[in-house]
Amino acid sequence: MMIEDMKFVKNFKKITNDAWFKGWHERNGGNLTYRLTEDEVSAVKGFMNEDSEFTPIGINVKNLANEYFLVTGSGKFIRNMTVSLEENAGIAKVDETGENYKIVWGLINGAKPTSELTSHLMSHSIKKEKTNGEYRVIMHSHTTNTIALTFVLPLDGKVFTRELWEMATECPVVFPSGVGVVPWMVPGGAAIARETGKLMNDHDVVIWAHHGMFCAGETLDLTFGLMDTVEKSAEILVKVLSMGGKKQTITSQNFRDLGKAFNVDISEDYLG
Ligand code: 13P
Ligand code: ZN
Repeated sequence: MMIEDMKFVKNFKKITNDAWFKGWHERNGGNLTYRLTEDEVSAVKGFMNEDSEFTPIGINVKNLANEYFLVTGSGKFIRNMTVSLEENAGIAKVDETGENYKIVWGLINGAKPTSELTSHLMSHSIKKEKTNGEYRVIMHSHTTNTIALTFVLPLDGKVFTRELWEMATECPVVFPSGVGVVPWMVPGGAAIARETGKLMNDHDVVIWAHHGMFCAGETLDLTFGLMDTVEKSAEILVKVLSMGGKKQTITSQNFRDLGKAFNVDISEDYLG
């Protein structure tokens, strides 16, 4: 079986294609990384070239030592992942110190992994630890409505969470841990990776003001679904604000009742 016929690769391509059609990935905007399972690593071993040079990650991700990630390339267009994966994405391996990575498949013709690799690996490291290895996906998208809201709402995770929850009844069930917000920062380095990482400790969704969103999840489908849910809520909020604002809404008591009915722990932090 060729790499491109493997299920995780097909899923990766499907999610990038879906995200492109959502309008979240203009030009090279956004990036996606997936941590391979042991079985997947064994299945692709024969295609890997382990001779390449290591490059510093910029942070230490010790608990990701010797892990393999399917990563989109820097400057590569998400819409082209389905056209040629080996030109636009690759498999990166983290070394045993957790300080460096090397490309072992794909990213041909001198391509490099996404410039947000540090934020991705920092988030993977935190989620691997927090979820006992369950979470395997980090997705960064330039979601239009969520970005628009960062120009009008206070850049405060509590405010964003409550507003987004109110826009669709199932939101607190889909993201009960709420969203974190990083104020505007220079993208593509260790500083924004650290700020994102701090918020990933408590949330699966981190909004980058005036830039986009980071989502973390167990599978490619669930992570895409999370991004889609938050962005749809943001779209409703943009419409509501454009129509003059809320005239009625879901109350704190409604959220408590929802939590009970769906057996989800909805934090009182957001229900003041
Ligand atoms: P890359 O092309 O390096 O992945 O960068 C795109 C992006 O969205 C930066 O935040
Ligand atoms: Zn971006």
